[in-house]
Amino acid sequence: MEHVDLLIHNAQVITCASPDGPKRGAALADVGAIPQGAVAVHRGIIRAVGPAAELRARYTADQEVDARGRVLCPGFVDCHTHVVYGGDRVQEFEMRLQGAGYMELLAAGGGILSTMRHTRAATVDALVAQTRSRLDTMLRLGTTTVEVKTGYGLDPASELKMLEAVARLDVEHPCDLVPTFLGAHAIPPEFAQDPDGYVDQVVHEMVPQVAAWYGRSHFAAQEVPLFCDVFCEAGVFQVEQARRVLEAGRAHGMRPKLHADEFESLGGVSLAVELGATSVDHLDVTPAPEVHRLARSDTLGVVLPAVNFHLGSHHFADGRGLVDAGVALALATDINPGSAPCPSMPLAMAIACRYQRLLPAEALNAATLNAAYAVGLGHRLGSLEVGKQADLLLLDTADYRHLAYRFGENLVAGVLKRGHWVV
Ligand code: NIG
Ligand code: FE
Repeated sequence: MEHVDLLIHNAQVITCASPDGPKRGAALADVGAIPQGAVAVHRGIIRAVGPAAELRARYTADQEVDARGRVLCPGFVDCHTHVVYGGDRVQEFEMRLQGAGYMELLAAGGGILSTMRHTRAATVDALVAQTRSRLDTMLRLGTTTVEVKTGYGLDPASELKMLEAVARLDVEHPCDLVPTFLGAHAIPPEFAQDPDGYVDQVVHEMVPQVAAWYGRSHFAAQEVPLFCDVFCEAGVFQVEQARRVLEAGRAHGMRPKLHADEFESLGGVSLAVELGATSVDHLDVTPAPEVHRLARSDTLGVVLPAVNFHLGSHHFADGRGLVDAGVALALATDINPGSAPCPSMPLAMAIACRYQRLLPAEALNAATLNAAYAVGLGHRLGSLEVGKQADLLLLDTADYRHLAYRFGENLVAGVLKRGHWVV
């Protein structure tokens, strides 16, 4: 007999396992279920996964948990968020309900720029305090890893202040955070008449400073990657501007990501594929030839259906079409104060099933394993496989499909993060 810290048995174990990278095509519909399964955890790492009878014969444990037939699945990876921000935009929410457009508000100096003003005015302490409570909510809803973008500072000092908040939260909060530099999120008012001047500042000042900050941070020491992202959209950053920023980032060791095709298709998907981006996100209006280019690449496609929902749009990314074309699809909330004040991965899954025509299995793989690859950590987390971090959820149901079926409910009964019960 071997001894481990924790053995959870009598569970429907949903592994989302994939030995060779992100899932695509038919593999996305397979969650790797082990009925009557068990998971053994030692020192925060998964030691064994398999039939309960087998593991109980092999391991004794300090703590044995009888799951009583309920589901054990990987913790969710929210691979696209803007969760650090000051203030809120509830006033704009009401204006949008009365007919104002999301991009119209931005063009008039509101939207992202309204959040920029609140974020610039906030101290690191204030940003940490506000974000901590959002992360607490996300953790209770089953999210154990969170990518976090900057992009509400839009000047060198304020962008670095946001990164400082991300680093502090990563240390103090059970969730793992992954930083993304999104200096090119909007043109700040100082550069309203000179957008290329702002791109120059991002490329020549911010990118080197952010890279230096990362080099000194615990993220680099722990081999958590730093990403660089751009909001590539009509009236914001054009493809050639996005290219300049992402190439500069790459030259400083940042991995490219891109917001593309949220409202208008500018060719961002082709750029992302050409640059070997880790992911390209939104994909609401991506034309067929670019979907096929994406499907033939190693770049993950990330869909964010809570955005369409919250913007009151009846148009959604064609999740079904993306999966059928062979795109390695991931799913995220995009939690932010403007287009998606939504902390819930299960709600994003429910919307993806209903309006993007994914199956619950596809939505779950997209929210766990593939999302882990979308933040460059697929080798460490995102599935229940031997050697991976023990980030897992105990659900109050015997059927994982209920996650996407019973929308608006929280089925998470327990969250294990690096081997410790945190919920
Ligand atoms: O992914 N589209 C650009 N950025 C975010 C929204 C940010 C905001 O409105 O504050 C998004 O939807
Ligand atoms: Fe976004």
